Amino acid sequence: MLPQRSRIYSTDDARRLARRRLPRLVFDFVEGAAGRETGAARNLSQFDEIMLQPRVMADVSDCSLTTEFLGQSHALPFGIAPMGMCNLVHPNADKSLADAARSIGFPVCLSSAASTSIEDMAQLAGGHAWFQLYFGASKEASLALVDRARTAGYETLVLTVDVPQVSRRLRDLRNGFSVPFGMSPRAFLDFASHPRWSISTLAAGAPRPMNFEGTKGVNTFDRGASRSGADWAFLDVLRKEWPGKLIVKGVTSAIDARRTRSLGVDAVYVSNHGARQLDSVPPAIRLLPLIRDAVGPDFPLLFDSGIRNGEDVVKALALGADFVMIGRPALFALGAEGPRGLTSLLQSFTSDIRVVMAQLGVTSINQLGPDVLFDNTAQPNDSPDTRTQATMWLAAKP
Ligand SMILES: Cc1cc2nc3c(=O)[nH]c(=O)nc-3n(C[C@H](O)[C@H](O)[C@H](O)COP(=O)(O)O)c2cc1C
Repeated sequence: MLPQRSRIYSTDDARRLARRRLPRLVFDFVEGAAGRETGAARNLSQFDEIMLQPRVMADVSDCSLTTEFLGQSHALPFGIAPMGMCNLVHPNADKSLADAARSIGFPVCLSSAASTSIEDMAQLAGGHAWFQLYFGASKEASLALVDRARTAGYETLVLTVDVPQVSRRLRDLRNGFSVPFGMSPRAFLDFASHPRWSISTLAAGAPRPMNFEGTKGVNTFDRGASRSGADWAFLDVLRKEWPGKLIVKGVTSAIDARRTRSLGVDAVYVSNHGARQLDSVPPAIRLLPLIRDAVGPDFPLLFDSGIRNGEDVVKALALGADFVMIGRPALFALGAEGPRGLTSLLQSFTSDIRVVMAQLGVTSINQLGPDVLFDNTAQPNDSPDTRTQATMWLAAKP
């Protein structure tokens, strides 16, 4: 029998197929956002407002996507954002992400709330796994997770700070979504009408938050618990405790970004959590150049929230990110077609980036700066040569 061809050429394809294949409760957990979900829509639509300036007749035959970030060389300018309970969309989701990270050479960030343990992911992804920390039941319990990550060989720790309280996600409330799963009559019907998903999930065992078993002081996972212990004092403690690279995720204010930098972290991760936390949050891509201005040209910045294709990756790099992370699209692809879908989606991102770079006349990732953006405010007599990078940045801001 011929191997089945993927039907995924874009995030939209992956989303459409995942919506069909996954129980509604699972699809909504992935796609849902805070409140009326206007913030999630703005995260995407804002990318459409940003235009790129094509350049012609450059020799772009030899193009490289290799990206240096925090002292490491990655084959691609993007990695996979931390997402809890990935194995809900496919029993092998975390393993597939780890396999891709290892074989292609990009980072995959394991969530505290993952359905794969810290130790297993380290084995699966080799040196490509990062660990994302949510402040847990106490400082001691949180540092116990950090200890496990260090013992397992992780070198990069991401502290998420934008979940002081888990927001009200209406889809999850209406669907009765909980972790671990509770089986309401509605969920039963939902699962029964998606037998392919239900049989494979049942065979593999319902996914559980695997990092909350066997950790000192943390025996259960409470999805709704406050994580507000991740405050400035805790960050200070963490910086002293963690010898590796430390990244703070969920920063959207220029003031917070400067303060975070002053505490000695290695990078700030600009993200609005895919608008899963606050409906009225500004689009993350709009915040990125403001934070770039605030922290200076050389301080490492990561970005996520709204990336849906390779062109978006290029836009984020041009607007000040040094590295980009992909969230929901990866889960849509895995939910739609499993590992094959993920491979196809990653290929679509990679080909997009190559084609866009060729259009822009650049051959390496570090050439993607503000001058590849179309300047919305340009006047006929302006000379681009006399304008500084900073003014171009401001002018091109969405
Ligand atoms: C299903 C799901 C689970 C997530 N879980 C976590 C998590 O455990 N920790 C975290 O820092 N961010 C988590 N996030 C947020 C992502 O890391 C990322 O910021 C977000 O998905 C970016 O938005 P986008 O997917 O719309 O691009 C989660 C996102 C989704 C969709």
